[in-house]
Amino acid sequence: MAKIEIKLSDIPEGKSVTFKWRGKPLFIRHRTAAEIETERNVPTSTLRDPEADDQRVIKPEWLVVIGVCTHLGCVPIANAGDWGGYYCPCHGSHYDASGRIRKGPAPLNLEVPTHEFPSEGLLVVG
Ligand code: FES
Repeated sequence: MAKIEIKLSDIPEGKSVTFKWRGKPLFIRHRTAAEIETERNVPTSTLRDPEADDQRVIKPEWLVVIGVCTHLGCVPIANAGDWGGYYCPCHGSHYDASGRIRKGPAPLNLEVPTHEFPSEGLLVVG
């Protein structure tokens, strides 16, 4: 299966950049300290698809998710919606900055693909 290598220095803090990987959009988000703090403190009992932030990220600064809404497969918009993470305009699903579903019809969090950080500044997905 094809892997993709991403140089992280190209992605500024606060930005979510979209890559194409295995025919799907891949979102790499360089999270701010405030986003990390907020997502870490969300009680999982309040979530539809309960996952703690640290179950979803390897390095807190980097969120890696497949950019396909878990409702019917549209591509969400970054830095939008009531939680400032991702917003799917097709039917109004709101995701937080951990890619977790918070409001709207989507049943599940955005999928986190297998990924690793083999060296400083390098991300490999797949
Ligand atoms: Fe995203 Fe329906 S496909 S809300």
